[in-house]
Formats: sequence, structure tokens, C-alpha cells
Amino acid sequence: MAKDELSSLNAMDFLKLSSIRKKKFKKASDTPIPAEYPANALARRLHPVRQSVKVSQIIEHGTDCRTYVLECNSDKGTDELAYFAAGKYITVFLDIDGMPVTRAYSLSSSPKQSLQGKYAITVKYVQNGLASRYILDNWEVGSEVEVSAPEGSFEYVALRDAKTVLCIAGGSGITPFLSMAQAISDGDEDFNMILLYGSRTADSILFKDEFNALAKKCSKIRTVYVLSHEQKDGYEHGFISKELIEKYAPSEAYSVFLCGPQVMYDFVDKELEAIGIEPKFIRHELYGEIHDASSQSDYPGNAPQSVKITVHIMDETKTVEGNPNDTIMQILEKNGIAVPSRCRSGECGWCHSYLKSGKVYAPKKLEHRRKADLKFGYIHPCCTFPLSNLEIEVPYCR
Ligand code: FES
Repeated sequence: MAKDELSSLNAMDFLKLSSIRKKKFKKASDTPIPAEYPANALARRLHPVRQSVKVSQIIEHGTDCRTYVLECNSDKGTDELAYFAAGKYITVFLDIDGMPVTRAYSLSSSPKQSLQGKYAITVKYVQNGLASRYILDNWEVGSEVEVSAPEGSFEYVALRDAKTVLCIAGGSGITPFLSMAQAISDGDEDFNMILLYGSRTADSILFKDEFNALAKKCSKIRTVYVLSHEQKDGYEHGFISKELIEKYAPSEAYSVFLCGPQVMYDFVDKELEAIGIEPKFIRHELYGEIHDASSQSDYPGNAPQSVKITVHIMDETKTVEGNPNDTIMQILEKNGIAVPSRCRSGECGWCHSYLKSGKVYAPKKLEHRRKADLKFGYIHPCCTFPLSNLEIEVPYCR
């Protein structure tokens, strides 16, 4: 309807709208609506739900950590990989003895490499880590794998972030920073990176040669290695403390990006608070999946030894049993029920499900639900633990 037609309507004229509309429909072309608009095809190309890739190279880092280079699997219809902003992660879809399992891994490759049909992820063995053990034991060159499109919000945004970013990494949390450093060197990102990278010993530093080469080539990248269990010339010793941050931080305003284990976040967050850096200038990569409800500081306890969960998924209803120390998602997966998931840390909202009845606990640090979700009983099963028998509605898994 034209603007002047609309503005000439008063409230009562609104009643005439349907007859006006009917006339318009009559006049409209009877050319059928296309099955797909070009914009939809483009969106699917840029944001595919799943991509099939093949392991093309494996790079060893000691005995318990490997980088997997993944390339397009054209045999399964993937002829190109989705582009991304440095800092994103992909979710890997696994089938472990009939159990559907997903894990998010940060991309260590550059955005430029994705245009050449390549991604790289680094997998480190996590104690009792189901997915990491499976990948390290089973993936070989030629293995076919399904992954999501790149996701997440751990990226540099010029409008929001300062021109210099203090990047704080711990262990295998270095991977998104390698992607960012390559993007800076390639001219795809424009910020100054000061990297404080904490490792136990000099031998456990990942991608040291790559970072040294990038720092040599590009004056916007500076690296500082911090060893907690070794003293060595040319390295800082100890933890990434307030004093160390202040020693290397620029005099002008800066942002802080963190990626590493939970224990590093707990420690460094306090140091940043002591420096007086406002939370809005600090960005954390995903907290990672949590496994043990009872080890969380705000766990209320009082859960029974075992719980029953009745799940409505599409047209099916199933009741399964599990350990309340596991998240709802872990219980469902252990019973062969796939739940849509990406981050497994409460951030992406893919697993958003309706709690029909029962009591649950979600750790405060992983609480990213909207107010409306809290009010109307929606939960994120990836980071929510049962405190009683439950009944939930779960979306169909894509
Ligand atoms: S998988 Fe991302 S919020 Fe649950």
C-alpha cells in the first residue's frame, strides 16, 4: 500500500483494509512465487547448517595434541567452505558408539585459507574428555567429518573494540589468536595484537614458530610467552598477573580478549578487575562444556542419585534415566538422543528447549538466557543440570 494511502486511513478505515487488499491481490501478477530467491541461496552458501570435510593433514604437537587440517569433501557435495571472521569456532558432529556428540573447536586457520577450501582445528586431550579421546584415537588422513559453519562472537569489531587488543591465551586456547594474527598479517583485520601466552614449559608452547614468523613479518603483532613451571631467558615466569599485564599493556586504551581454561579465566578476571578494566572491554571465548554439577561453586545440591527425563522431540516422546551430575544434554546424548547444539556453553541458543516440569540448576557464569526465557521456562540443556525428574520439549536436531 502506498504511503499516502496509508496516512489517509483513520482507525475505522482500517476495517476497509481487507477489501483494499483483496483488490490488490486480484490485480497482482499470477506468476508463481519462485521456489527459492537468490538471497536465500546465498544465505545457505554463507551459513550452511552442516559442511562435509575430509582430514587432509595431521600435525602432531607432542603426544596429546594434534592439529587437523580439514578440506572440502566434494564427494559429499561440499565444494567450498563458509568464510568467517578470525576468532570463530566450528562444531564437530561425532557418532561415538551410537551416541550423538558435538564439540566446538576454535579455528586456528586464517579466513583467507577458508577461501582455498581449508580449515584447521587443534584438539588437545582432555582428561575424561569423550570427544577429544575419540578424535585423537580415530581421525586419520582421509577421515570424513561433518562440521557446522563457523559460529561465535569472539572476534574483533572495530566499532566496539580499541585499536590495540591484549590477547591472553592459556594452553590450547591459543588457536583463535593464531587465526587473528594471520588475518592481521594478511590485511583482513586491522588491529594491534599484544599476545600474552601462558604455558607450563617452553616445550608446551603451541605454534611458537608460526607466531614468531608472523611477529617478524608484521609490526602489529607482539608475542610474550609466560611459563608457569619453568624459568628461562627470554620468557616471563609465573602467571598472567596484574603486574605482568601492566608491564606489556599499551599506555592508550585497549581491549582484552581471553581464551583458555576456566581456571585461567577465574584468575585473570580478578587481575583485570584489580587494574580497573571495565567488563565491557573484556571478551571471553566460550567457557567450554562443564561436566560436574557438584563441583560448581553455586550448585544448590539436593539432587537425587538418578533422575528420569521425559523428552518430547518432534512427534516422539521418550523417557530416559541419568546422573544429575551430567548436564541434560549429556544425559540425552548418552541415551542416543541428539539435541541441536553448537557452543555447549550456554551462549549460542541452539539447544533452547522448553522445561515443562521439574527443577533444574544452571551455573550463574553460563547464564545467557533472555529475561523472557527465564520467565516462560526455557532452558539451555547444554549447561543445565537436573535437580529432579523432568519433562522437556527439545527442538528437532539439524
Ligand atoms: S549449545 Fe549453545 S546454548 Fe546450548
